[in-house]
Amino acid sequence: MNRAFIFDLDGVIVDTAKFHFIAWQELAKELGIEFTEEHNELLKGVSRTRSLEILLSLGNVTKTESEKDDLAKRKNDHYVALIGNLTSKDIMPGASEFLKEAQSKSIKIALGSASKNAPYILKKLEIDHLFDAKIDGNHVSKAKPDPEVFLKGAEALGVPAKHCLVFEDAQAGVEAAINAGMKCVGIGDESILKNTNLVVAGMDKISVEKAIEIIENK
Ligand code: BG6
Ligand code: MG
Repeated sequence: MNRAFIFDLDGVIVDTAKFHFIAWQELAKELGIEFTEEHNELLKGVSRTRSLEILLSLGNVTKTESEKDDLAKRKNDHYVALIGNLTSKDIMPGASEFLKEAQSKSIKIALGSASKNAPYILKKLEIDHLFDAKIDGNHVSKAKPDPEVFLKGAEALGVPAKHCLVFEDAQAGVEAAINAGMKCVGIGDESILKNTNLVVAGMDKISVEKAIEIIENK
């Protein structure tokens, strides 16, 4: 059976979530909007444009389209500066070992990330070569929880959705996987991630064998 693993990037393979938070928080401060870690959960897995809309609505702030473009650009410039020093040392525990083992077992591997910065980050982490297909924010028009990013990944790999397992740290991403008809492993906290097939604290807490079992419904 052809099987595939589809990986979210931020918060699953690399801990960039903290840099997104810092950059959004800085912008929120400038706009006089209160923005906590709890609010930040709403932005995880969500596109840059949609994240800005959520932030503005938290503070009941209205902006024109061109002002929004400027704010999103400023947030991204700050974020890109924060991730400038990323190296392979920033890969989260267990992630690259898991990817390499899956590759050695001929499981197809795709990236399914909302981030337009994904190509830059993968290059910095030096793990480009571990992916058979890479779908990111530059290739999709509909943000998670829409299943577009994962369905495009499955299509690029030539694997049916029901044989794909998604690894996600955001509830919007878990819902996108379910909407795609895929199984899903949540990476993070059980009290935050709902309706998954399994939640583990990190990629070092799940084996490739266990992941295959989830696809096969054992
Ligand atoms: C997701 C992050 O992976 O990418 C979100 O979880 C982020 O927090 C989104 O907003 C878009 O990222 P970028 O890099 O295109 O601004
Ligand atoms: Mg994520």
